Amino acid sequence: MDTLNLAACQAAAADWWKTAVIYQIYPRSFQDSDGDGVGDLAGIESRLDYLCDLGIDAIWLSPVFPSPMADFGYDVSDYCGIDPVFGTLEDFDRLVASCHDRGLKLLLDFVPSHSSDRHPWFLESRSSRGNPRRDWYIWRDAKPDGSPPNNWIGEFGGPSWTWDEATGQYYHNTFLPEQPALNWQNPELRAAMLEVIRFWYRRGVDGLRVDAITHVAPDVDKGDNPPNPDWAPHMGPTHSHLQANSKNQPEGYRIVRLMRQVSDEFPDRVLIGETSGSLGEVMSYYGDALDLFHLPFNFMLLRARWDAAEIAGLVETYEAALPEGGWPNWVLGNHDIGRIASRAGPAQARVAAALLLTLRGTPTLYQGDELGLENAVIPPAAVQDPWEKRVPGLGLGRDPARTPMAWQPGEGAGFSSADPWLPLCLPAEGDAARQSAAPGSILAFIRALLQLRREEPCLQIGSYRTRQAGDGLYVFDRSMPEGAVTVCLNFTSRPQATGLGGEVLLSSDPARPRGLSSGLVLAPDEAVILRQ
Ligand code: GLC
Ligand code: MG
Repeated sequence: MDTLNLAACQAAAADWWKTAVIYQIYPRSFQDSDGDGVGDLAGIESRLDYLCDLGIDAIWLSPVFPSPMADFGYDVSDYCGIDPVFGTLEDFDRLVASCHDRGLKLLLDFVPSHSSDRHPWFLESRSSRGNPRRDWYIWRDAKPDGSPPNNWIGEFGGPSWTWDEATGQYYHNTFLPEQPALNWQNPELRAAMLEVIRFWYRRGVDGLRVDAITHVAPDVDKGDNPPNPDWAPHMGPTHSHLQANSKNQPEGYRIVRLMRQVSDEFPDRVLIGETSGSLGEVMSYYGDALDLFHLPFNFMLLRARWDAAEIAGLVETYEAALPEGGWPNWVLGNHDIGRIASRAGPAQARVAAALLLTLRGTPTLYQGDELGLENAVIPPAAVQDPWEKRVPGLGLGRDPARTPMAWQPGEGAGFSSADPWLPLCLPAEGDAARQSAAPGSILAFIRALLQLRREEPCLQIGSYRTRQAGDGLYVFDRSMPEGAVTVCLNFTSRPQATGLGGEVLLSSDPARPRGLSSGLVLAPDEAVILRQ
């Protein structure tokens, strides 16, 4: 390691999550080890070498806790256990140890805004109005005409209130009726949930991705949500109203501060928030004193039109909005949105990966995106996602981005010996084994990108500056006092002259020679990283 690398690594070593690349695993679809068609913890452990070869630093697992799976694990019935479909706590401990042996960090999903309606706390809460845990959830009387306390609509359609016949009150649910909202105003509930954070940290977990945090403190007595003047039916029922009183309420920030304080009781843990809303709202979750999330998820690329000028514009807007000392982060895909290879088009998948992995900040890479996986077509009989079932036909369903990993040739593509829980969709460039052996594959390119990112301090901690953006070309610098690299992205299917020269460090086009180049002309859909 030369002195430049050494200095940069020392500077960043204080906060591992600043230079880390996070890889999101959707456990149901990663690797099945016991032949039930659903991925599990032992399956993840068996694929850790693949992840090390890929070159990521941390894995984040979507929920693996006991759950009736009404929302595939985001309906938790025991915060301190492992669902049998995924394995046991012993399997989990082994996975943590195996990750740490390889130098990988492991992050879990923490789902604080709601539990499952099967959680023992909720069973108690709904058992009678006088139960000591009644107030652990949000109960309200009906209006005089019997209707719910306000007009709020659930994230998956339908009222966000569910009538409980036995006790004659409504309970609040932000998502499904099977996901009753927890009442963080109750001190005992609050203490019990904060203890869950300690439980997993004591087991060696390196951080948490905190689910649906914008919904943690709904102000149910504040009244109806106002209609959304810009609503159109294709947006789905939830957006017919602005979530002015239900999301991003002041009390929510106090709750996140408590989570952060507990997180800070343990060294080197990272707290990531699933923040959504306006850019200002996302930024507000850093906290004025940087005392909330280390990384409030930045979802700007998820909904962006795939256009060079547009994306450069939003990168600049985001950079400018960051609070002093706030560390940026980028997300290109996850289990809730269509695949990037489909959103940007398969030809642009390499450009998109280059963007994610060279922008300033911590990237989160979604499983399967490294193979260029596209949205699957899910036949109606195979639909699993409750959102699609409740609000069909609008394309809101999330199954297309949740299909199993295709590992190798043969039945089940190495994912499972049984019928997979969602249909298998083969990436256009083939399964992981085939792509591993093909130097020109998207997998090979992403490995090379991750390796370059490791070797090149500019890409880890250098500053960001736009050089050029428009007409399908986006060029930016990542610089340190010692030097800079320049990222050139061709968002079009025609050649693009950059007018730049330098040493080609990496190209998405395997045919491009490395070494010095002048008057660089990008091939269609090409990404090049230069040292100037
Ligand atoms: C988050 C999760 C999503 C889940 C929802 C409810 O948005 O990412 O998958 O359905 O919260 O927990
Ligand atoms: Mg299994």
